[in-house]
Amino acid sequence: MDDIRQELEKLKENIRYHNQRYYNLDDPEISDAEYDRLFRTLLDIEKRRPDLVTPDSPSQRVGAEPRESFSQVPHRRPMLSLENGFDEKEIRDFDVRVRKILKDLYACNYIVEPKMDGLAVEMVYERGVLVSASTRGDGYVGENVTPNIRTIRTVPLKLIQRQEEHPVPDLIEVRGEAYMEIAAFNELNKLRLSQGLPVFANPRNAAAGSIRQLDPRITRERRLNMFCYGAGEVSGLKFKTHMDLLNALQSWGLRINKPYIREFSNLDNVIEYCRRLEQERSGLPYEIDGAVIKVNELVLQERLGEKSRSPRWALAFKFKPTQETTRIIKIDVQVGRTGAITPVAWLEPVEIAGVTVSRATLHNKEEIEKKDIRENDTVVVQRAGDVIPEVVKVITSKRTGNEKVFQMPSNCPVCGTKLEKRQGEVVIRCPNKGCPAQVRARLIHFVSKGAMDIEGLGEKIIGQLLDREMIREAADLFKLKKTDLLKLDKIEQKSADNLLKSIEKSKKTTLPRFIYSLGIRHVGEHIADLLGARYRDIEKFLTATEEELLSVKEIGPQIAESVISYLSDIENRDHIGRLLDEGIVFQDSSPRGELLAGKAFVVTGTLGSMSRSEAKEAIERNGGRMASAVSSSTDYLVAGEAPGSKLQKARELGIAILDEKKFLDLLKETGRLKNGG
Ligand code: IVH
Repeated sequence: MDDIRQELEKLKENIRYHNQRYYNLDDPEISDAEYDRLFRTLLDIEKRRPDLVTPDSPSQRVGAEPRESFSQVPHRRPMLSLENGFDEKEIRDFDVRVRKILKDLYACNYIVEPKMDGLAVEMVYERGVLVSASTRGDGYVGENVTPNIRTIRTVPLKLIQRQEEHPVPDLIEVRGEAYMEIAAFNELNKLRLSQGLPVFANPRNAAAGSIRQLDPRITRERRLNMFCYGAGEVSGLKFKTHMDLLNALQSWGLRINKPYIREFSNLDNVIEYCRRLEQERSGLPYEIDGAVIKVNELVLQERLGEKSRSPRWALAFKFKPTQETTRIIKIDVQVGRTGAITPVAWLEPVEIAGVTVSRATLHNKEEIEKKDIRENDTVVVQRAGDVIPEVVKVITSKRTGNEKVFQMPSNCPVCGTKLEKRQGEVVIRCPNKGCPAQVRARLIHFVSKGAMDIEGLGEKIIGQLLDREMIREAADLFKLKKTDLLKLDKIEQKSADNLLKSIEKSKKTTLPRFIYSLGIRHVGEHIADLLGARYRDIEKFLTATEEELLSVKEIGPQIAESVISYLSDIENRDHIGRLLDEGIVFQDSSPRGELLAGKAFVVTGTLGSMSRSEAKEAIERNGGRMASAVSSSTDYLVAGEAPGSKLQKARELGIAILDEKKFLDLLKETGRLKNGG
């Protein structure tokens, strides 16, 4: 009796430990399969002994029933907001105010953190157990969203003491930002479009909408995440600095945005780092709308105190907006590779966060109607990360009477075929698979970065090759000769040679890339990876059954149906056959390449081309793993800009050291560089 209790406790501890390594330290110790085994054992025991299920069990992230409405949760200390600064001068003014109050008696350091664009959440832990989670509300009383926050895998249900100097307090109000990564947001919107649901305007709205959900089962399906950035009430403990607090949070299993949190003693460096964050923002997997500058020393924070709504010790440096106002010149439709007809707005060009935008997607007829978007309208346009810009709303007060309501065409604007709306679908499609627009879009997808990655082969060349009838489908690309290429505009000897080389090189690919390149509906890069991992072999993939597909985590009926329908089409199978006949070979039978298999990497310093988590992803994608500390079992140290003591240690241990370029070369060689491609 007591045995099973003990075993269960040990198991839970063990799973929590691995959760922390995996989710919060980016440094897993065991394989996913091993972790799954642990988790299944836990579920088995709890199934047999429901009386032993406790609310802090790692199994208890799911399953709560929907509620009627949110109850209210008072915050023990108000959740303040931040004062904004919009340029360098306002940062300097902030520093002057701080120093004036501190009378230059104290040396104060600043911490700069990315300002996450999500939803502020407070999590209350009593004796280490998550007992409540709430939104900010009016700052004093928030909404109880506990069951929803419990579904976020990076939020520990129990805090664990892992460092002697950081015991878990009896009570702590942890504050953080719940957010959705851009990739998850895009996928969610794609899904919603295909289900005829309105799309979310941006990742922040998607995160907020997912958390303010009465049914936690819906929240669970949304890929949400959390970065913690502070605390309200903390019992018993006294920290010296904000950084100490953050480190303690991390040691207990909470997630902080460590790689981007920096400490500075000099204001110029603060400003420089804020600028750098602004520049790097579009490369991050999540949205940030600014940088938060905070006085590091907590006694000084106390001295500075707060105004009614914001503390005097912090400033939010807000980046240039990603929304701008412009006018719609005209609306027309675009034909996608699956024949989907998407209305597009042509805009008076406008610069948004450094990029000129002249087109925006309007998604579908329903969205146009819902937002009442017309030609000639003045609109707010938004660009998020690398996402296609979209029209957020119409400024109706600017209407002049010259606006024109847009009518969706009934025939394909490219091939003239009558458009169709299949039963149960929202999307209008051109059913003609031979429609030149579809052929072209399929080819562009085929050669794209995340797919076959044929360098130097872009939309323009594909357009010419099609127009001159030099190719009709993807397999024809591999038959091109130098004499053919030389007939194209602006192609001379050297570029023709290079192009042929890239085409040849692309034949060595991986199964996930190949599957993705086929352009099967609902099969994005992530799903293609899952399929590659499940089948490992193209022949096996070709005989996939619906049942098998459904057994893959994350693959639901819609995707399974789409894959089966693609594979049962004889034309598609012939197409795949012709590609394979051209000599396409799969470099690695598993999606995680062989070359880095089992190799341990440590990354130190900052990489210019990717974040830490992207580096980790790239390493794991290629079969390696990332560790946090250098030891004799480390295989490679990747040294970015401003490497720390790890570089020294690696030198002492004689470990292979890669600079960023060498690291990228290694990844390129092994296959996949980046998920997002
Ligand atoms: S500190 C008393 N740090 O920005 C100040 N806030 O306008 C507490 N936010 O409601 C906030 N990232 O939701 C802080 N690294 C960060 C943040 C951050 C995002 C949000 C937070 C807050 C809002 C303030």
